[in-house]
Amino acid sequence: MKAIVIKEFGSVDVLQYVDNYPQPVMADNQVLLKVYAAGINPLDWKIRQGQLKALLGSKFPLILGNDASGVVVAVGKLVRDFKVGDEVFCLLDANQRASWTGFAKSGAYAEYAVTRADTLAHKPKNITHQQAASIPLAALTAYQVLMHRAHIKQGDKVLINGASGGVGLFALQIAKALGANVTAICSERHHHLVLGLGANAAIDYKTQDIRHISQKFDVIYDVVANMPFVSYQHLLNPNGVVVSNVVNPMSLLATQFNPVLKVLGFKKRYTFAWVKASGVDLAQIACLIERNQLQTFIEQSYTLSNIKIAHAHSESGKVQGKLVLDLSAL
Ligand SMILES: NC(=O)c1ccc[n+]([C@@H]2O[C@H](COP(=O)([O-])OP(=O)(O)OC[C@H]3O[C@@H](n4cnc5c(N)ncnc54)[C@H](OP(=O)(O)O)[C@@H]3O)[C@@H](O)[C@H]2O)c1
Repeated sequence: MKAIVIKEFGSVDVLQYVDNYPQPVMADNQVLLKVYAAGINPLDWKIRQGQLKALLGSKFPLILGNDASGVVVAVGKLVRDFKVGDEVFCLLDANQRASWTGFAKSGAYAEYAVTRADTLAHKPKNITHQQAASIPLAALTAYQVLMHRAHIKQGDKVLINGASGGVGLFALQIAKALGANVTAICSERHHHLVLGLGANAAIDYKTQDIRHISQKFDVIYDVVANMPFVSYQHLLNPNGVVVSNVVNPMSLLATQFNPVLKVLGFKKRYTFAWVKASGVDLAQIACLIERNQLQTFIEQSYTLSNIKIAHAHSESGKVQGKLVLDLSAL
């Protein structure tokens, strides 16, 4: 099959297009997908660069990509909820069992991919495969952070730092669908978009120091985590919570040892979230899409042969919404 493969960690130059890669072998609890489109996430180039090798190991060759949308072409003996011909999307996890770290095994940058049936949801009928592939990882991250970690509720005041990127745009829309009052932080060129999606206010981080905002918030969702959270804890209401999804030594320490943070001067609740592949959560997201409460924004779509350009764009950190790979012509 055709695939993008890496055989070592490194720059975009390690991304190789191959057209005779063996098709993956499906286990009893998995399905085999014909991939029509794959999403591109910062996670992909972080893995490519070797940033996560301590957690993921260094097994090569490796096919990147965790977001897939396509059609089921074979199902394992234990699979009940999906059948051949179903149009599905998923945060793909090629592991037969979910790993203890929660990290999903990639494989979406290919003509065919396997994933556990419990990672799948039916593709909403009102969107294309490219749109569907742009959703799972980023929307699940936003959904799980807001629902399972921050437990947001109607009327909460929510501050989103990095509101115009892949995760941020979903977080903004999910928070609004749940009745929150949202302040979006992003560059000025994206204010029109975030205000159009219902943000109650937009702040340009280039011209305003967010540490000096006069308002208080119940939830601060720090999508980009580009400053120490101790520096903005005064923006939280007494029972407020900071949630982030960026892995750094401080966030890992914070997750495990909130008491240690207290000693270091952080007086509020902090929590770090790592996205989990979940067909159940993805089905909830699919409902929001079908009710037109959640839209996806694709800045650009690439073919497999343009994967290096696509990764370089994602690495720039200036993507509005999502980037996808179109595999429908393979
Ligand atoms: N832990 C997890 O499970 C998990 C899951 C998903 C993502 N992540 C991580 O979360 C981060 C964001 O992911 P993403 O997919 O949203 O990335 P993305 O699509 O590349 O978006 C990044 C956004 O950050 C904004 N930005 C850049 N500099 C900023 C600054 N100084 N202040 C505020 N915003 C700034 C940019 O907006 P402007 O152009 O408006 O500046 C851009 O839209 C990545 O590091 C990713 O690896 C972690």
